[in-house]
Amino acid sequence: MIYLYYDSRTGNVERFINKVVQITGWTAIRIQDGLDVKEAGHLVTYTTNFGKVSDKTDAFMREQNHQILSVTSSGNRNWGRNFAVAADKLSEIFDIPTAMKFELSGTLEDINQFIDIIKNQYYDSKRGSEKLDIA
Ligand SMILES: Cc1cc2nc3c(=O)[nH]c(=O)nc-3n(C[C@H](O)[C@H](O)[C@H](O)COP(=O)(O)O)c2cc1C
Repeated sequence: MIYLYYDSRTGNVERFINKVVQITGWTAIRIQDGLDVKEAGHLVTYTTNFGKVSDKTDAFMREQNHQILSVTSSGNRNWGRNFAVAADKLSEIFDIPTAMKFELSGTLEDINQFIDIIKNQYYDSKRGSEKLDIA
């Protein structure tokens, strides 16, 4: 079983996660204060306030980063160089591979790409980052 841990404020990441779960049957758990992760899994979060990691994700990662296999961020390309950079920041701080970045709640193509990356462990691969390089 693959586990996904996610943070969502306005619902985009949650919509993305719901579609992934619908297709794959994977288990998704929303991050809450004090969540104790028992199964290793993948983080999906969003970028906020000029390229920042959300407080909730930050607190979660400080406690549980050893259980996280890859990081993914939602964002909005309107933010230019700050597009979904929470994934880069978390990847650097905790030395965890980036799986992908997507806009808002993701397109069907993004969802399928994410599933492919996670299933086949293509973290930080050319395939996952190709699209991201033009961000
Ligand atoms: C106040 C605010 C600041 C944001 N800052 C960024 C940003 O710096 N970079 C980015 O890529 N997206 C940024 N976004 C867009 C969100 O990351 C994007 O809407 C995301 O899908 C939100 O996920 P959620 O709906 O699950 O909370 C920002 C959105 C808001 C409301």
